[in-house]
This record gives sequence, C-alpha cells and structure tokens, in this order.
Amino acid sequence: MDKFLITGGQPLQGTIRVSGAKNSALPCMAAAILTEDEVILENIPQVRDIATERKLLSSMGAEVGGAEVGLPEDHCTRIRCAVLSDPVAKYEIVKTMRASSLVLGPLVARAGLARVAMPGGCAIGGRPIDLHIKGLEKMGAEIVQAHGYLEARTEQIGGRLKGTHIVFDKITVTGTEDLLMAATLAEGETLMENCAREPEVVDLAALLIKMGAKIEGAGTSTIRVQGVDKLHGARHAIIPDRIEAGTFLVAGAITGGDLTVANCNPSHLGAVIAKIQEAGAQVDIISADAIRVQAGSLLRATDISTEEYPGFPTDMQAQFMALTTQADGVSQVTENIFENRFMHVQELVRMGADIKVEGRTATVRGAAHLTGAYVMCSDLRASASLVLAALVAEGQSVLDRVYHMDRGYERIEEKLCGVGARIERVSNAPDPAEE
Ligand code: UD1
Repeated sequence: MDKFLITGGQPLQGTIRVSGAKNSALPCMAAAILTEDEVILENIPQVRDIATERKLLSSMGAEVGGAEVGLPEDHCTRIRCAVLSDPVAKYEIVKTMRASSLVLGPLVARAGLARVAMPGGCAIGGRPIDLHIKGLEKMGAEIVQAHGYLEARTEQIGGRLKGTHIVFDKITVTGTEDLLMAATLAEGETLMENCAREPEVVDLAALLIKMGAKIEGAGTSTIRVQGVDKLHGARHAIIPDRIEAGTFLVAGAITGGDLTVANCNPSHLGAVIAKIQEAGAQVDIISADAIRVQAGSLLRATDISTEEYPGFPTDMQAQFMALTTQADGVSQVTENIFENRFMHVQELVRMGADIKVEGRTATVRGAAHLTGAYVMCSDLRASASLVLAALVAEGQSVLDRVYHMDRGYERIEEKLCGVGARIERVSNAPDPAEE
C-alpha cells in the first residue's frame, strides 16, 4: 500500500497543469456503449477509476485501446463496442468504483438487457441509485434485484425503452447522466426535470450530440431528448477537471504561494474562486484557461455550504476545510449533499486543527499550528485535504492509503513537487484495490 511522506512549509510557486475531468470521462466512456462504432476520447486522466472503467468495458466485449490513434495511450482512449457479448458489470471489477451505475442506462438502451453489480456503501455515506432505477422503470424497463445485482430488461416492451416524463425527486449527477444516455436511444421524447446542471452533464451531452443524439437543455434543470434509432462514432476532448483545479487553487492559497493553475476552465470554478477570494487570497483569471492564486498574510475565516452546481461543490468541501484551519477566526463548513462527508475531520484534528462537528456543520477555529502526523486517507477528497494540510504542517506527515487519492488525481505528488512541494511516494505493500 503506497504512502506519501510530505514535508510541510514550502510556498508553492510556478505553473501546475490540470488533467481531464474524471467525472466527465467516466460517463463519456460509458456513452460508447450506445454505438457499435468507434468513440475516441481525448484528455482522459490517467487515474485508477478510468483504468477500472476500461477493464469493465473490455469485460463486456468492447475493444479498448489508445496508442493507435496517434496520441499518448494514457490520455486518449478509443472504445469500440461492436458487439456487447456480455452486458454485465461484474462485482469484482466495479467494487472499487461507485460510478459503475453509469453503464446501466446505456446497456439496457443498447442491448435490451443489463446486469450491473449494486454499488456498495462508501466512506461518505450510502450511495443509493433508486432514482436511476425509477427513471428506467418509467421508460418501461423491468428491473429486478437479486444476488447483489440489478437486472434490467426491455424484452417485455419489444426491446426498446420508451420516451417518458421524468421528474427527479432529488438532483443527482450520475442519475441525470445515466437516464440522459438511456433516453438517446429510446422511442420518442423524454422530458427530464430537476436535472443536475454540472459541467460534466453538459460535456456528456456534447459528446452524445456529436454521436447523433438529439438533446436540448443540458446545463439547465430541464433536458429534452428526442430518441433516435442509432448513434454513430465520434471524437471528443474531455473538459478539464474543475475539482483538481480547485484543489490546486487551495494549495496555492494555503501555502502562501504564487501558483498558476493552467489548462483549466475558470467558468466552471465560480463558487470556488469566490470563496478563496473571500478567504483573503488574490485570485485572477489570467487567460481563458489559466488562473493565478497569490496569498501572503493570514487568511480570513470563511463559511461554505455545499450545494449542487453552480453552488460550492461537495467535492471541494474537504480541501476548503483544510484552508479554513489556516484562516483567522471561526469558519463554518456545512455539508448538504452527503450525510457522512467529514471523515477528514479527525485526521485534521490529529494534525492540530481545532474542528467540532455538529450534524451537518463543522466549526473550524483558526489559525491552527499544524504539525506533521501519521494520518489515514478515507476517501478521494478527504485524501486531498490531508495533502493540503500536510503542505503547511511543521515537519513530516505520513499519509497512509493513498490509493484513495490515486482513484481521482493523476500523479498529484509529481505535479505538486514540480511547483515546490516536498512529497515522496513510498510503496511497501500491494495495493488492496488491485487484489
Ligand atoms: C457525483 C460525482 C461525485 C460528487 C457527486 C455530487 C461522479 C462520478 N461522481 O456522484 O464526485 O460528489 O456527484 O456532486 O460524477 N441520491 C439518491 N438516489 C439516487 C442518486 C443519488 O438519493 O438514485 C442522493 C445521494 O445519496 C446524494 C445526492 O443524491 O445525497 C447526490 O448524489 P449524486 O449527485 O447522485 O452523486 P453521484 O452522481 O453518485
């Protein structure tokens, strides 16, 4: 199991590049299921969840490659689902990746049959997919649950999903994406209301439209889809990862550095930029794809409350909490999306932070003098918050279980070392995610 040894105290300086968005690449790869032609995706991040999805698509009979399209294999994926010999998402493959439900809609739409292992719970709370199921049932699919799998079929309605009117009870990102993909091949019109408005939904819709889908309204809460008989191949570049970009902005601010975050989309980062500015750092959009963050004196206490896009993202809550430990005064961090997303708190406290959690709100008193400690990563974004805290802690921190980090951040230690951080990866045991 890999560990990070991080020595704090270096202000980060220079330019750091953002990779493609994991949360956009995952649904876009699943969209390849919808056609028998080739789909080529560029700017794919090299992270563990993507490797898992490649494996998953291959196990269903897809051809998955990369180098032959003339771009580095690790950032370009070519997927061809000419035949789906085995429309099953096996538990052994999907157990480490929560986004596996994204293949449910495309599989049942294309093959009329899908068997998908139910996602387990995870550190940040239960991850129900009832809204995916409800939507597909409304489109006519018959869904049964047994032996840890969901089985969906359309033979009783003639093998094709039917367009319908779906109103999501709750805003769900992958639920919107899953049903959007299913609706592209359904018979007739599907009207979806109370949809997620995240940039990743818009990116998926852009790919689907290139593939021949008829979609209006992606990026708003109402999406209208006219189903088509067939989709064709397409080539698409994935948007930059706004959460990785936000993590780097916090890294610049927390270390009192001067950091340029390149290859990002500033328009996706409005709420995050506003809060880092409120905390007292200077943040400037210096070009269409770069943001500079500079921080000098003590940061100011700042409250955040997570919301669906365009609000402050839950995926940046843990990182921003690390920043508030270094801000003067009392900050309140409220988590509204997931019920148990404060796993990083106890680890930050072990490093010297003063944080009290009551219900959905954490009260952070700063600025705390953090000292290096042995801490455990519990989930993807919690790991990022511990890296950020370790960058300012006095002395050395040891971060255990960094495989959580590797699920969603591409070579983060190399990227941060390139701008002055001192991080060493040590490997001394097999990674459990690979077993
Ligand atoms: C996606 C992101 C994840 C992010 C989250 C919220 C991907 C691969 N992952 O996860 O990084 O933290 O959005 O921005 O894109 N819910 C239900 N029933 C459902 C579906 C969701 O009750 O069928 C609830 C969830 O428990 C949660 C809330 O809705 O409380 C939002 O979850 P959702 O938007 O679905 O998260 P994901 O799509 O899994």
